[in-house]
Amino acid sequence: MPTRTTPRRRRTTTQSPRETDAHTAARIAARIAARIAALRAQIRHHDELYYVRDRPEISDAAYDRLVAELRRLERAHAGRAHPGGAAAAPTQRVAGRVARPFAAVRHAGAMLSLEATHRASDASAFVHRLTTQSGGVCDLVLEPKLDGLSVELVYTDGRLTAASTRGDGTEGEDVLANALTLDSVPRTLRAAAARRPAFLSVRGEVLMPRSAFVRLNRGLAAEGEEPFANPRNAAAGSLRQLDPRVTARRPLRFIAYELLAARDWSPATDRQVLVALRRWGFTTPERTVFARAADRVDRYHRALARVRESLDYEIDGIVIKANDLPIRERLGATSHHPRWALAYKFEPRAGTTRVEDIAFQVGRTGVLTPVALLRPVDVGGVTVSRATLHNLDELARRDVCIGDTVRVQRAGDVIPEIVERRRGTPRRPARIPARCPACRGRIERDGPYLRCVNRWACPAQLVAAIRHLASDDAFSIEGLGGECARKLVDAGLVGRLPDVFTLDARALRTLPGFAERSADNLARAIGDARRVELWRFLVALGIPGVGKSTARAVAGLFASLDALRRARVDALRRVPGLGAVDASAVHAFLHDRRTTALVDGFLRAGVAIRRATATRGTR
Ligand code: IVH
Repeated sequence: MPTRTTPRRRRTTTQSPRETDAHTAARIAARIAARIAALRAQIRHHDELYYVRDRPEISDAAYDRLVAELRRLERAHAGRAHPGGAAAAPTQRVAGRVARPFAAVRHAGAMLSLEATHRASDASAFVHRLTTQSGGVCDLVLEPKLDGLSVELVYTDGRLTAASTRGDGTEGEDVLANALTLDSVPRTLRAAAARRPAFLSVRGEVLMPRSAFVRLNRGLAAEGEEPFANPRNAAAGSLRQLDPRVTARRPLRFIAYELLAARDWSPATDRQVLVALRRWGFTTPERTVFARAADRVDRYHRALARVRESLDYEIDGIVIKANDLPIRERLGATSHHPRWALAYKFEPRAGTTRVEDIAFQVGRTGVLTPVALLRPVDVGGVTVSRATLHNLDELARRDVCIGDTVRVQRAGDVIPEIVERRRGTPRRPARIPARCPACRGRIERDGPYLRCVNRWACPAQLVAAIRHLASDDAFSIEGLGGECARKLVDAGLVGRLPDVFTLDARALRTLPGFAERSADNLARAIGDARRVELWRFLVALGIPGVGKSTARAVAGLFASLDALRRARVDALRRVPGLGAVDASAVHAFLHDRRTTALVDGFLRAGVAIRRATATRGTR
C-alpha cells in the first residue's frame, strides 16, 4: 500500500523559506508517524484475528503488504521509536499470543518465524550469503513449507509431556490434551533403533488434509455454521478447542521438521535429526531434498509449485535451511527469524475476471463494506465471485470501477483480494449510497467508513446480529447461521434479537426449506442455549469494542449482570484491557434506553445467566 503523498504547501510572504521547509518537514513527519501508528494498529488487529481467533479478514498477501510498508517506513524513519518499545512493534516480534482459555507454556527454545520472499533473486542471494558465511561450502536442506499451525512437542524420558502452539514465540498455549488425540503425534518415542534422549523438544506443523477440510466445511454449512476460510484456519481452530473430544473428531496430522532442544544428544546435521525423528515414530516432510547449489533451489521450487495442487495438504512455498547444525548455531537468529533459513514462497494463485457490479454490504455494526461482484472465475480450484474493497478510501485508492478487468488473488486461503486492475471501456464508478441499501435509513461517514445509523431497526444489521448472537463465542446455537437468520427476518419471525428465544418448532417449520427434523433440532438448540454464561451474553449484545477477551475480563470482575448494570464508570475502568474511553463507551451503551430494553427482552424471553464454567469449545 503506497503512502499518500503530502500536498505541497504554498509559501506565504510571512514565512521565510527555511521556516516553510521546517513546517513541511514537520507535517510530513507527522503524517509518517500517523501512518506508522495506523499500520501497527492494523497489523495488531489482523494478528489477533489470525492467531487468536483463527478468523482472518484479509489475505496473506494483503497482510504481507501491510508489514512490508511498515518495515519500509520504519527503516526510512528509524528515529521513530515504537511507544511500547521495539519489542512491542509488530515487525520486531513474532506475532500471536496466548489466548485466554489456554494455560501458557514456556517453549524449550524460541519458536521463531521465518524470513520470507517470493523472489528467486532473494533466494539465490540467501544461498550465496550462507555459502560465504560457512567458509565456501554449505549443504542445504530443501523442504516444502507446510501451511498449517506450528506446534512444539516435548518428550521427557521418551514420553510426551507437553504440547503447545507458537503463541508469542516464547510462550504458547497448552494443547497437550488435544495433541494426544492425533494419531501422528507419538505418545512415546519408539525405542527400537535410536537411543532416546532424556529430554527432546520437536517443532512441526499441524495440518488438516484438504479433503478433510472440504468435508468439515460441508458439515458446518449444513448445520448453518460459519465455514473455515482455509485448511490452516481449520487446523488451528480444531487444535485450539477446549474440549479435546472435538479435536479428536477432526482429522489432523502432525509433521515434524525441527529439533528445538535435546539433552544428551547433539546431532551434527539436520539430516541426522530427520532420520532419528522418523525412527522415533514421527512423520517428517515428504520430498525433502539435500542440495548445495542455488540452481537446485530454483528447480526444487518449480517442481514443488507443479505438484502443489496434487498434494492433499497445503504448502505455500519451500524452506531453504543450512544442513549443518554447528553452522546454524554460529549464524544465530534475529528476534524474529533464524539467519540460517529462508521461506521462498510461491506466487499466490490468481485469476482474471470482470467487475460486474459494486455492492455495499451492511455488517453487524452498520458498516457498509464495498464489495466487487465478479464474473465467477476459478482461482486454484475455488470459484471466486466477490472480492472485498474494504472501505471508501481503499475503493478510491484502487480506483476499481464496474466494467474493469481485475486480477484476483488467493494466497493460500480463500479470501480473495484484487491485486491489479485494467480500466474497462466503458467503466462506471460505484454508486456511493446516500441511504442504507437494506433499510433506506440515514448513513453517516466515519473516516473511510460509511455506517447505517439505524442500529436498532435495520434488517441487514439484525440478520448479522442474529448470526453473531448464535456464534460460538456467544450463545453458540447450532443450526442458526447467516442463511437461517435471513429467513427468520424475512419471514418476520424475528424483529428484535430476543425474539430468537421465543421461536418454537411450529414457527420454525413455516420457514422455507425447514423440514420437521431441522425445525425440531433448531428449536432444541435454542432451548439449550438459554442458560448462558455472562461473558457470552455480553459478546451476544455486540457492545462496540467488546470482543471475547474483554467480555471475559468484564465477567471476571462482575459477579452478575445486575452488578454490571449497577457499576459506575470507575469500576469499569478497572477491567483489564479496557481503556478509559472504552469504559465510558461501554457504560453509555449499557445505560442506553434501548440496551436496557434489549437486555430485559432477553430475560423476559427466558434467557438466564449462569456462572462461568470452562467446558465449552473456543471456536
Ligand atoms: S523450519 C523458524 N521448516 O512456517 C524456525 N518451518 O511462515 C525454522 N514451517 O512458523 C522452522 N514448514 O512453523 C520450517 N519445512 C518447514 C516448515 C516450517 C512450515 C513454518 C514454521 C514457521 C512458518 C513461517
